[in-house]
Amino acid sequence: TNDRINVAIDGPAGAGKSTVARLVARELSYIYVDTGAMYRAITWYMLREGIAAENHELVDRKVQNMAIELLPEKDVQKVLINGEDMTPHIRSLQVSGQVSQYSKIEGVRSRLSHLQRQMALRKGVVMDGRDIGTTVLPDAEVKIFMTASVEERALRRYKELKDTETVTLQQLEHDIAARDRLDEGREISPLCRAEDAILLDTTHMDILQAVEAIVSHCRTYVNGERNHL
Ligand code: CDP
Ligand code: CDP
Repeated sequence: TNDRINVAIDGPAGAGKSTVARLVARELSYIYVDTGAMYRAITWYMLREGIAAENHELVDRKVQNMAIELLPEKDVQKVLINGEDMTPHIRSLQVSGQVSQYSKIEGVRSRLSHLQRQMALRKGVVMDGRDIGTTVLPDAEVKIFMTASVEERALRRYKELKDTETVTLQQLEHDIAARDRLDEGREISPLCRAEDAILLDTTHMDILQAVEAIVSHCRTYVNGERNHL
């Protein structure tokens, strides 16, 4: 229907974007697009090929020539590069530690932003990342900037990783703060709140409360538009 809108959700690592965005999409019967997974997939691919982020030219050339596909599966979303599924490797600490170095490269950003815009052309998309409300979908009808304290975000990540990775809470806090600084400080489309984005601090909010808050903004928007007709 013509009622469908696009929803942009940005914010720092561990704020709850992907968990909440996926549930918002389910609630509205929209498509969820995890843009962080795309940057992570490219990072894993380059690491595996032994192509350092410092080698911008080579990264650029590789990225312009690779086939990138996003397969929306039931719960996770798969990212394929040249037909190969990168998804099993993209959440590792190794990838988390390097992704900001690759994601600041112009050719990487332009290639992925272009793909992301195409996915949103028909509306009905919930997309999360760092630059969705500012750069990828500046016309998104609903924009959310989701945050939480760095302590709370590190704790959330710790609970996810403690069984599979050797890592301390303190180390994660340090890593997350460092990644935030890189993402906020880069030249091209840095992490920042769009002027018209609604600030949602989830430090003391559980997942369902955050979902409810966003869905309610979406419904209010759609109903408001309908009343204008
Ligand atoms: O899940 P988490 O918040 O740890 O990260 P993510 O959303 O998977 O994003 C991983 C990294 O990709 C970020 O730290 C950014 O460097 C980059 N990214 C970006 O530059 N632009 C986006 N729209 C999404 C992610
Ligand atoms: O995508 P982003 O890095 O912003 O965060 P996430 O991967 O969706 O969430 C990180 C972790 O925090 C997940 O394990 C969520 O279940 C958890 N979480 C939470 O405990 N409370 C919230 N309000 C939001 C997320």
